[in-house]
Amino acid sequence: SGTAKKTAEGSLVIGGVDVRELVAEHGSPAFVLDEEDFRARARAFKTAFKDFDVFYAGKAFLSTTVVRWVMEEGLNLDVCSGGELAVALRAGADPKRLGLHGNNKSVAELTRALDAGVGRIVADSLFEIDRLIALARERGIVAPVMVRVTAGVEAHTHEYIATAHEDQKFGFSIASGAAFEAVARVNEAPELELLGLHSHIGSQIFDSAGFEVAAKRVISLHARVSEELGVDMPELDLGGGFGIAYTTQDDPSDPAQLATELGKIVEHECRAFGVGVPKVSIEPGRAIVGPAMCTVYSVGTVKEVALDNGAARTYVSVDGGMSDNIRAALYDADYSCTLANRYSDATPTLARVVGKHCESGDIVVKDEFLPSDVGPGDLVAVPGTGAYCRSMASNYNHVPRPPVIAVKDGQTRVVLRRETEDDMLLLDMGVEG
Ligand code: LLP
Repeated sequence: SGTAKKTAEGSLVIGGVDVRELVAEHGSPAFVLDEEDFRARARAFKTAFKDFDVFYAGKAFLSTTVVRWVMEEGLNLDVCSGGELAVALRAGADPKRLGLHGNNKSVAELTRALDAGVGRIVADSLFEIDRLIALARERGIVAPVMVRVTAGVEAHTHEYIATAHEDQKFGFSIASGAAFEAVARVNEAPELELLGLHSHIGSQIFDSAGFEVAAKRVISLHARVSEELGVDMPELDLGGGFGIAYTTQDDPSDPAQLATELGKIVEHECRAFGVGVPKVSIEPGRAIVGPAMCTVYSVGTVKEVALDNGAARTYVSVDGGMSDNIRAALYDADYSCTLANRYSDATPTLARVVGKHCESGDIVVKDEFLPSDVGPGDLVAVPGTGAYCRSMASNYNHVPRPPVIAVKDGQTRVVLRRETEDDMLLLDMGVEG
């Protein structure tokens, strides 16, 4: 992250805090959240997209502290479940600055959002539109609604995190006409206020071509709605998905460049269709929090294994794994890592950093050169774990989830405490005494 550096002795310092001291105080594994870096990234989006609204996608990582930072930096917040909404409201977020997503929001979730006065609800099915009509009517209110549409583009990313091709669960298809019908339905309901269209093409995307095609198709629908229904929808959301660097091979997104590109596309398309330019919003999650956090693990054991080709691989086992970072196992994601507690001039050796869970897919870093003297007691830091690691963490093997420790100006602050065995046993109704 932005403030990370190594001392002359080779120990990693983030936000002015030496990770050796952080681990001595808070234990390992630990997520280390660089507050200044998080805020700088949020601000960079806000500044670059000055004519847009920027919604931080809370699914990447959410806690009340982060909600406050997001609000302080002038961003809005996208939540996609009752739980995320609860965190946002508990943090005192202005409900007007919240958006609620999800392809299967429950009546309870919709009710809570309406009662709280959430600024926009992104409708994803006809059932949901009907539910919103009924709930708004009961309350005598008008519900602010956006319509999630599927632009039919193939985003170049992992299949599980691409969301704009036709054959998946999200949104209304533009191509089939379902999107126009959904918009018409929202428009004719006096209980609903039609804010605009919403498109999200996927996550960890580097190529702006997908955004471009999606924007064109979404704006053509926007224009059709203007022409045939006579409504100029005031808003348009192009979603999130901006890629970050996990290894040196990746090329991170640059908010300023993105803003220019997306701004141009929207302007150009709106002009081409002869419609006014709506207020555009985007929803970055990963690009804000991903690089702002790293995970620090302690090494427990090291084992050398002979490979079929005659070479060897060093397995470095750390005290976490797929319960705090499922992304390698789930998406074949690549990470890098570094020895974080000392300098070593031992020969670099090809290592695989693995966790402590009971399956061989429990890999944290597939391939990395680590000094050959790496061993028990060493600390290994994995950068870029801010997004979708703590938020997708599990208790697999009854391993407690690590804490998130914010660092800034040499100070630490526990954002989420470490889970304990007692926390897990609290759910176990068979516990006696
Ligand atoms: N907006 C919507 C409607 C979304 O569904 C998502 C992500 C975002 C915004 C934020 O996307 P971002 O800027 O963070 O890429 N667990 C996966 C990622 C799933 C993304 C789900 N939706 C991973 O670990 O790669």
